[in-house]
Amino acid sequence: MEHYFTENTEVEHNIKEMQFEMNDEKFSFLTDNAVFSKTRVDFGSELLIKTVLREETKPDSILDVGCGYGPIGITLARFYFDAIVCMCDINNRAIDLAHDNIKKNNIKNAETINSNIYGNIKGKYELIVTNPPIRAGKKVVHEILVGSKEHLKRDGRIYAVIQKKQGAETAKKKLEEVFGNCEVVEKKAGFWMLRSYNG
Ligand SMILES: C[S@@+](CC[C@H](N)C(=O)[O-])C[C@H]1O[C@@H](n2cnc3c(N)ncnc32)[C@H](O)[C@@H]1O
Repeated sequence: MEHYFTENTEVEHNIKEMQFEMNDEKFSFLTDNAVFSKTRVDFGSELLIKTVLREETKPDSILDVGCGYGPIGITLARFYFDAIVCMCDINNRAIDLAHDNIKKNNIKNAETINSNIYGNIKGKYELIVTNPPIRAGKKVVHEILVGSKEHLKRDGRIYAVIQKKQGAETAKKKLEEVFGNCEVVEKKAGFWMLRSYNG
């Protein structure tokens, strides 16, 4: 069986368009079978976007790890139009959609990279944002959290959204181990928004 987190997918296409609104800005996203949350923007992703917009004024660079069809990276790129936004995913279908959605939403400051976790990521970023692939397993999720330190600039921040029942407490401990700090900056409907600072 193919899952949304696999590298390639043989599942039949069923491309659909959905509308999304954030702080009066309108977005239109193409989605497909075998990508995460294909009928609506995931609650956790929406919470992550809202929290980052509330907490961050003017980041210069953002990496969206496990971008799927692109709702987090594209929305943040629209609001932080001076930032360079990089969106990566292991799933080719998701990356193709994210690429098309960047164009569809007339975003000029975002790019996509096919990457297994940070495998093809070269630079360092002021922000790393992730709604991590829980279904890919704890090892992958923790590699995303631990590896973020190498890809954050000095004073950069990682934001990760995880449900309490899907390991938010363990993820918080992991981030504390790596960064020496981790705050829960928002909690809603069982979702925790974790933030660590790369001091
Ligand atoms: C929970 S989904 C979030 C998708 C998207 N950010 C959103 O908000 O809809 C996690 C994403 O991580 C991707 N993923 C799974 N394993 C990965 C890996 N090893 N490296 C990079 N991305 C991965 C999946 O393909 C999926 O798109």
